Amino acid sequence: MTKYGAFPGTRPRRLRTTPAMRRMVAETRLHPADLILPAFVREGVSEPVPIGAMPGVVQHTRDSLKKAAAEAVEAGVSGIMLFGVPEEGKKDGRGSAGTDPDGILQVALRDVRAEVGDDLLVMSDLCLDEYTDHGHCGVLDAEGRIDNDATLERYAEMAQVQAEAGAHVVGPSGMMDGQIGVIREALDRIGRQDVAILAYTAKYASAFYGPFREAVGSSLRGDRKTYQQDPANLRESLRELALDLEEGADMVMVKPAGPYLDVLARVADAVDVPVVAYQISGEYAMVEAAAEKGWIDRDRAILETLTGIKRAGARTILTYWATEVARKL
Ligand code: PBG
Repeated sequence: MTKYGAFPGTRPRRLRTTPAMRRMVAETRLHPADLILPAFVREGVSEPVPIGAMPGVVQHTRDSLKKAAAEAVEAGVSGIMLFGVPEEGKKDGRGSAGTDPDGILQVALRDVRAEVGDDLLVMSDLCLDEYTDHGHCGVLDAEGRIDNDATLERYAEMAQVQAEAGAHVVGPSGMMDGQIGVIREALDRIGRQDVAILAYTAKYASAFYGPFREAVGSSLRGDRKTYQQDPANLRESLRELALDLEEGADMVMVKPAGPYLDVLARVADAVDVPVVAYQISGEYAMVEAAAEKGWIDRDRAILETLTGIKRAGARTILTYWATEVARKL
């Protein structure tokens, strides 16, 4: 008895007493189907190539990618998002390898579809940065500036070759104005009304993409601040959201995830389409690096980040830990 009698009369701690109690009252549960695995496939290699800044993640060979896709199915993951890494000599100003039916991403899409059929949602990154020699997500004009509308024509063509190669879903990640509308029209024009668009709707110019640049062997000249969003802005994301939906987005994405949970929550409140979050390379690298130093408990930290992203409103999460986490759930 305290000197205040029965105070406190309300004791929230009663709902935290045992693991069984905590499990019963949990408001957010992760499920393997909540997860999508982003994966890199590199042209012309016979062994998977480790990515230094992403311990545990590799640039796949065609064969090891098929195996990773099969493992993702086995673990119950719902999708795989593919990124192509062409041979260095194949990069040029317009990102030609991105629209070559025999370009590495298209080859990988066919491989993975042959392996998993419809058991896994096969998605493709629809962007030029993996294929341009200057590393930008678009083509440049004579002054070296991003040419938005010329880039849209390249995206339309990319959408068509990716759909023909077997993508169930295309993921335009270049943040060009009008990209969703142009891609929808391009897909419909070749009779691919069935292919869905996962729009990278709120994509911020983030320092946390650093390890990805190594993963796709991109040497970006300059930065992406004229097309990706300023981290300071939230309202701007709602504007991008309205435009993407108007242009025909089937699903919308917020990226990165961890530093933008407020954006994710606002987007999730505002729409009735599925909302996806991308836990990006730098978010992955931070946890792995701190864990390697023994500074945090790796497994707990991973689950905590994913739970936070789902709690904030994500229906589905792209994460490099997808298969590993799905197996443990
Ligand atoms: C663009 C693209 C990027 C990522 C996914 N798609 C890089 C960028 O915008 O600079 C980053 C993913 C990650 O960091 O994990 N093709």
